[in-house]
Amino acid sequence: MNNKSELTEIEVGVVGLGLMGTSIVVSLLMAGHPVKAVAPINDDFDTAAERIREQLIHCQQTDLLKKPIEYYESRLMITTDYGKLRPCKIVFECVIEKMDIKSSVYHKIAAVVKPDVIIASNTSAIAISVLQKLVPHPQRFMGVHWAEPAYATRFMEITCGTETDFAHAEWIFDIAHDWGKEPTLLRKDIRGFITNRLMYAVYRELFHLVELGHASYDDVDKAFRYDAGSWITLMGIFRRMDYLGLQDCTQILKTYLPQLNNSDKVPRVMQEIVSTNARGTKNLKGLYNYTKKEAHDWENAFALFNKDIFQLAAVYPYKTQNL
Ligand SMILES: NC(=O)c1ccc[n+]([C@@H]2O[C@H](COP(=O)([O-])OP(=O)(O)OC[C@H]3O[C@@H](n4cnc5c(N)ncnc54)[C@H](O)[C@@H]3O)[C@@H](O)[C@H]2O)c1
Repeated sequence: MNNKSELTEIEVGVVGLGLMGTSIVVSLLMAGHPVKAVAPINDDFDTAAERIREQLIHCQQTDLLKKPIEYYESRLMITTDYGKLRPCKIVFECVIEKMDIKSSVYHKIAAVVKPDVIIASNTSAIAISVLQKLVPHPQRFMGVHWAEPAYATRFMEITCGTETDFAHAEWIFDIAHDWGKEPTLLRKDIRGFITNRLMYAVYRELFHLVELGHASYDDVDKAFRYDAGSWITLMGIFRRMDYLGLQDCTQILKTYLPQLNNSDKVPRVMQEIVSTNARGTKNLKGLYNYTKKEAHDWENAFALFNKDIFQLAAVYPYKTQNL
C-alpha cells in the first residue's frame, strides 16, 4: 500500500468535469494527488473551477479538509489541453455515457499519455470489456466506479474487463484505501457490476409492490430506511445473515423466492412518470412531488448526511480486526 507522501508524487488526470468528474477531482486532491483536470467541452472549462471551489468549501465546512482550500487549488490544473495528461500515472474518464464520445476521448488520451498509464472509466452501465477495445493497452484499462459525491462516499467498485491485468487492478484496489474508499474488486466484467444488480433487484420488487397497491412509495422508503438503513452500513448483506443466525434462512428463501417479482419489463409506473417529463427534485415532479423548499431541504439534508455517514463509516471500518 502507498503512504500519503507517495500519493503526493503520483499525478493523476480526470477527463470530463461534470457532476461526477468535479467531485472525483476533489476526492483525489484531498487524498494528496496533484490533479490535471481536462475539460472536454467549453462549458466545463468555464464552470469547473467555481464548482470545484464550492465543493472544497463544502468539505471545509464539514471538516473533511486537512489543509486550506488554496493548498488544494494550487495542486490542480484545469485545462482543455489533453497534452497536460502526459505525466499522469492514472487517468479517470468521466464523460457522458455515450460510446462514440467515450471513444473519441480515449483516442485523445491515448495520443498523449505514456504506455504505462492506467486508464479507468467511471461508466455505470457500459461493459468494461467493450470499452477496453478502444484503447491501445487494454490490459491497463479497467472500470473505477465512484459514488456521488466522490469526496464523501466510501463506495468504489473496481471492475476488470476480459483483458485487464489483475495486477494493475490490485494496485488501484490498494491505492483506493488511501483515497478513503472501501473498494470492491470485481474480476469479471458482469453487466451492472455488483451495486447496480443489487439496487435494480430491489427496485423491481418494490415497484411491483407499489403497482399492486400493496404499499405506497412512502411505506417502501420507510421500510428501507429504518430496517436495512439501520444496519446496512455496518454489516452489509451476508454478515447480517450470519449475525441473525443461519438456521432459518433456507426455509425462508424457499418460501419467499417464488413470491418475488421476476419480470423483465420496465415497471409501468416508472414508464408513466418519465413520459410526463418528471425529473424528481430537479423539476419538483417525480415519484413524490416537491415544493422548491422541500427539494432544497432534501439536497441540504443529503449533503449533511453524506458527511455524517462518511465519518461514521470510518469509525466502523470494514476490516473486523479494526472494530
Ligand atoms: N451521476 C452519478 O451519480 C454517476 C455515478 C456513477 C457513475 N457515473 C458515470 O460517470 C460518467 C459521467 O457522469 P456525470 O453524472 O458526471 O455526467 P454529467 O452529465 O454531469 O457530465 C458529463 C460530462 O461529459 C462530458 N461531455 C459531455 N459532452 C461531451 C462531448 N461531446 N465530448 C466530450 N465530453 C463530453 C463533459 O465533461 C460533461 O461535463 C458517466 O459515465 C456516468 O455513467 C455517474
